[in-house]
Amino acid sequence: MAPPSARRCSRLCLRLVLILLVLSTMLVLLSTVVFLLNPSSALSWALGSPQQVLAPAPDPGAYGGTSDCHCDDKGRQGQWNILYHLGGNSPWIQKIDDVVEGGFDPPKGCAVDMIHMMSRHGERYPTVNAGARMIKLLERVKAAGTPLKGSLEFLNEWKYFSETPGDHFEQLTTTGPYSGILQAFSTGVKLSTRYRHLMNFNDSAPPTYLWAGDVTRVVDTARYFSTGFFGLNSKHAKVIPVSEAADLGGNTLTPGETCLNNNLDIIKGHDNGYTQLYKFQSSYLPTISQRLLLENPTLEFTPSEIYSMQELCGFETLVRGSSPWCSVFTPAEWDSFEYARDVIHYYRSGPGNPYSRAMGWLWLNATTNLLVEGPMRAGPMYFSFVHDGDIVPLLSALGLFNDAHDLPVTHVEARRKWKTSQVTPMGGRIILERMTCGDDEQYVRINVNDGIVALDGCDSGPGKSCPLERFKEYVEKSGKEAGDFREVCGLGKDAEEGIRFLRQPGYGGYEQ
Ligand SMILES: *[C@@H]1O[C@H](CO)[C@@H](O)[C@H](O)[C@H]1NC(C)=O
Ligand SMILES: *[C@@H]1O[C@H](CO)[C@@H](O)[C@H](O)[C@H]1NC(C)=O
Repeated sequence: MAPPSARRCSRLCLRLVLILLVLSTMLVLLSTVVFLLNPSSALSWALGSPQQVLAPAPDPGAYGGTSDCHCDDKGRQGQWNILYHLGGNSPWIQKIDDVVEGGFDPPKGCAVDMIHMMSRHGERYPTVNAGARMIKLLERVKAAGTPLKGSLEFLNEWKYFSETPGDHFEQLTTTGPYSGILQAFSTGVKLSTRYRHLMNFNDSAPPTYLWAGDVTRVVDTARYFSTGFFGLNSKHAKVIPVSEAADLGGNTLTPGETCLNNNLDIIKGHDNGYTQLYKFQSSYLPTISQRLLLENPTLEFTPSEIYSMQELCGFETLVRGSSPWCSVFTPAEWDSFEYARDVIHYYRSGPGNPYSRAMGWLWLNATTNLLVEGPMRAGPMYFSFVHDGDIVPLLSALGLFNDAHDLPVTHVEARRKWKTSQVTPMGGRIILERMTCGDDEQYVRINVNDGIVALDGCDSGPGKSCPLERFKEYVEKSGKEAGDFREVCGLGKDAEEGIRFLRQPGYGGYEQ
């Protein structure tokens, strides 16, 4: 008879083996369920097998709440992902670089009591200009009439992703796993799950306003988002189109249009974005042109045509879920494309544009006033829908991702902070969260595409948040440095000073 200790061990070991067995069975079952439930892989099956692994698996943690899994894209795939190199031409992606550890759930002892979102419109077709360049390129290839070889061989069979391009330019995409309408809707669902506690379902509660720049794709985004967040034709929500007219001074969501100097100053204003882009393009595109010429010696592509090919990768992905164009270029060539997109944003409406901070400060100032007023007086939720060119100035005003030196245009500056791919993808959004922690202390936290980013010089709060009082001072200081919008932009004293419409109805101080 074995001694009691050995008997105990054998019983214990048996139990261990049993537990292990049960656990591994559960794992197998779980992975089967996850596999079956994974709509992105199911969709990519339905749409034909993609050239690259593009679709990240849906992450239950993305909805917020109790999940502690904030597994990111790199973690899941462990491989180079084209979507992180498209500089704003990609579907929405999560920010994973330079984010505060611990995910976006509020830190222990804190609760979000107010949110202010500024979001880019959802995934769209190319703009008229970019699209026209793509069509022209394709027509020229067709007219050449020679079958292509090598990395462009697919083009012999390939068709542009719209039968009626003119009807689609600028509009949200409506097909595939990355369609703009689907993404806007599911973002609404995602955020209403995360911020459910801020919603007031009382029948007599006033509707929550959602403000949207008055062009179709932006208003559509707000409507799909609102449907996901509040439900179909909900009386709890109202989308308010906001004019993008150039004569509204500071009372606008789209200051790039109303800042006169930004449009007139062809050296330092928004035109400089293209000037610097062309300079950088000439540093990398001719080499690609030479490479492709080796494969098809009778057809030489201009640098601008190569750039269009790179743009086709993202835009086809937004319609079809994947694109053979993405495989034409090497990772190093994608790094250059990514940088080219960073350069244009940087000089067109970012820190490389002297009007940028004053433009971005308008919304920041209005929002900071509301954060200080708090949810009881100002209402708990604010949503604004705009363009990437309106989000980039907000980054300048917040002093996020600022580099010590302007971006060079002779080569890729690999160590830059200014990377737009994870900040202004299609549907890209910045949410300023007001948190109350412990003994009624208020903090502000910045969520950029579901990555929390810390403010340089104001991150002493829980989860690197910024104490509300300090945030107010920080924004005031930024406003002083930015200068008065009317003055900086060359508008008269009778122009509107700032944003007046951003206020939820039914709360104290509402005027209209
Ligand atoms: C709903 O709102 C009205 C007006 O604000 C208020 O009088 C009423 O008590 C609220 N009802 C509930 C159930 O909270
Ligand atoms: C900024 O906010 C202050 C209130 O703190 C307001 O008086 C001022 O008009 C605002 N300025 C702009 C440009 O929005």
